[in-house]
Parts: sequence; C-alpha cells; structure tokens
Amino acid sequence: MNVGIDKIDFFVPPYFIDMTDLALARQVDPNKFHIGIGQDQMAVNPKSQDIITFAANACHSILSEEDKQKIDMIIVATESGIDASKASAVILHRLLKIQPFARAFEIKEACYGATAGIQFAKAHIKEHPSSKVLVIATDIAKYGLYSGGEPTQGAGAVAMLLSKDPHILSLAEDQVSLTQDIYDFWRPMGHDYPSVDGPLSNETYIQSFVKVWQEYQKRQKASLTDFSALAFHIPYTKMGKKALLAILENETEEEQSRILSRYKESITYSRRVGNLYTGSLYLGLISLLENSSQLSEGAKIGLFSYGSGAVAEFFSGRLVKGYKDYLHTTFHKRLLDDRKQLSIEAYEEMFSEQLDIDTDNTFSDVLSYSLSSVKNTIRHYKEPSPK
Ligand code: CAA
Repeated sequence: MNVGIDKIDFFVPPYFIDMTDLALARQVDPNKFHIGIGQDQMAVNPKSQDIITFAANACHSILSEEDKQKIDMIIVATESGIDASKASAVILHRLLKIQPFARAFEIKEACYGATAGIQFAKAHIKEHPSSKVLVIATDIAKYGLYSGGEPTQGAGAVAMLLSKDPHILSLAEDQVSLTQDIYDFWRPMGHDYPSVDGPLSNETYIQSFVKVWQEYQKRQKASLTDFSALAFHIPYTKMGKKALLAILENETEEEQSRILSRYKESITYSRRVGNLYTGSLYLGLISLLENSSQLSEGAKIGLFSYGSGAVAEFFSGRLVKGYKDYLHTTFHKRLLDDRKQLSIEAYEEMFSEQLDIDTDNTFSDVLSYSLSSVKNTIRHYKEPSPK
C-alpha cells in the first residue's frame, strides 16, 4: 500500500528582519550572515501569534470537509510547547473542527519530532487504510538578543496530511534512525532560551548524517545516484551544505553539481525565514518541490531529519504523478513577499515583549487565527469567520 504526504503547506508570521540590518546592528560583517551562515531574512512573531496560530494558519487552506471527517489522529511536533500537560494538538483539534473520534497528542525530540510523527502516522495508516493523519510541525526558534544563535532564529509551522494513495510523496519503508545522548542543544524546564554548544551541534549534525547515510547505503545497497535530490533539516542554510559536502568528496564533479543544485533549491524558503526547528526539513522539502524544474514523477527524494540531543533519521519517498498540482507555489511567494520588514529596533521590541500568561489580557491581530485573549492562564484564539 502506498502511504505518504497527500497535502503539505506552511505558514510563517507576517514580519521579518533583513540579515544585513541585523549584522550592522551587531557590528558583524553582513557576509558572515549571508554567506557564512547562509541567511538573508529572519521571521519574527508578535506575542499575539504562537505555535497554535502558526499551526492553524498552516492547516487552514489545505483541509477539506472530507479530510476533517477522515482525520483520526493529530500529531503536533514542537519544542516550543505552551503547556507542560495539555497537548496543543487538542486545541488544534477544536480550532480545525476535526471529527470528535480522533486521537490528539504532542511529541518532542527537538527538531526531529515531526519525523517521528510521520513514521507513526505511516504505520497507523497501513493498519487503518481509510484513516488520514494530520502531522504538524510548529515552533518559535529563539536564542536571545545578542546571542551566538541570534542569526539562526525563526518561527512558523508546516502542516502535512498523510494518507494512503497520497498525491505528493509516497514514503518508502527504509528509514534508518540513530540516537546518541549528547548535549549539543537543550532547554531545561523554565528556561526561555536553549543552551547551545554551537561547534558541537554542527559536528554532531554532520557525523549523524554521515552515520545514517552510510548505514542506509549498506542496508538498502543504495548510492547517491539513486536519488534525484536530498533535503535536510535546515537550522541555517549553510548547515545542510556542510553535511552534504562530507559525503560528496568522492563523487564526480557532475554528481556534486547535480546534488548541490537541488540543495540550493531546497533552501530558497529557509534563507528568507530562518529556523523553524521541527518544520525546517519539511519547509526544505516544499522549497525543493516548488523551486526545482528538474524533478519528475517517480523521482526519489532522500530526507535527513536531525534533532539535537540527539536523534537523526534518513528516509526517502518518491514523487507521485501530478504532484505539482498539489503545491501552492504562488500562494507561498505571496506569503513571503507580503511580510512587513521590521527595523532592528522594532524587532528587539517585538522580541522582548513576552506573553505574560498570569495576567489577563486582550489582543487584536489581523491574522485569521491569532490570540484574542488570555484569561485565568488560558489562551483564547480568534478564528476566521465562516466562508
Ligand atoms: N564572510 C563570509 N563568511 C564568514 C565571515 C565573513 N565575513 N565571517 C565568518 N564567516 C563564516 C565562518 O567562516 C563560518 O563558516 P564555516 O562554518 O563554514 O567555517 C560561518 O561564517 C559561521 O561563523 P562562526 O562559526 O564564527 O559563527 P558563530 O560562532 O557566530 O556561530 C553557529 C555559528 C554555531 C551556527 C551559531 O549561530 C549557533 O550556535 N546557532 C544555533 C545552533 C545551531 O543552529 N546548530 C546547528 C546544528 S544543531 C541543529 O541542527 C538543531 C537545531 O535546529 C538547533
């Protein structure tokens, strides 16, 4: 049975900063951010937008009434959870008006979570072929003003509907996972920002990729030429390239150029958004599919998922005939182009305004789904008016 991604969409908040502005404000050569890190813009969110509103806005345009009746599981992957007990998937179940007899839960393993969600969804659909599963990756990547990680922040969500006979990507049963207990990036309870060992995180990312790739090649008797493209978790766009270069050394120049060209297409959106944590790999997949003219039906795409801490996984899928008809390229161009550019002063102000959950408050935000109020520590959301 073919199971995979039937629909996919993303949402990013409607504000961004330009990385030249950030570099100049931090007295850094702008080339460090544009070339050394590989980021041109960075998404910023106001406190009236959170992981729930990103997720709901990402799902809004792709779910039909029939999907809402058939979805029997909602999995939200996040490392920016808003509650230690209640899963954000439960709130989204109500906001998205999914039929009641569904399972809803949240999973965590840094940026890897959505991949665990996809594998769980795939196994569930194989057991229950009429089911559809909604997997949502939603996060706010914040390292703090003036921190080393500041140029690698971002915010947003990717929503994926998995089903049998999918219209976009049919997933193979070939995943290779790797777990290593390493403190490269972690966020203890109660801390607003993560603790990061930058060089160790880069190193662990690369060695994890090389390990799962080598194991994959051994188990599947596969080589790079079997793949039309590889998509990576993208904490910043230079990161995936560093990992890729580690396995390209012995490849022909032509092969190197082919794989690197696809990589460039996969980072087009991330260069303008920054790190989405759980959603980054999947934003990379969308970017690849929407910006490459070199892919066709049946093309095999390799996906490398990495979550600090650390869990990594390499798996693959094949593009389904007619997949282009299920993409939203024009809409995404508009979503990115129509965002408002903030000055660094405005960004710092927006960044520093934390939501105080212990003080009742009301908000007015133009987004379809956004926070309307906080009362008695409960977040209330504005919903779009019925069509
Ligand atoms: N022109 C061009 N390039 C320049 C430059 C200039 N003027 N100045 C510096 N550079 C280059 C450097 O040579 C370096 O390139 P290489 O990595 O290819 O050598 C690059 O810019 C970055 O420079 P530094 O290493 O000096 O940068 P830094 O110390 O400021 O830290 C960072 C970079 C470690 C990524 C930091 O931003 C960080 O800690 N980010 C968060 C952690 C992270 O994203 N880790 C990635 C792996 S972990 C993961 O993937 C999970 C996740 O999502 C968090």
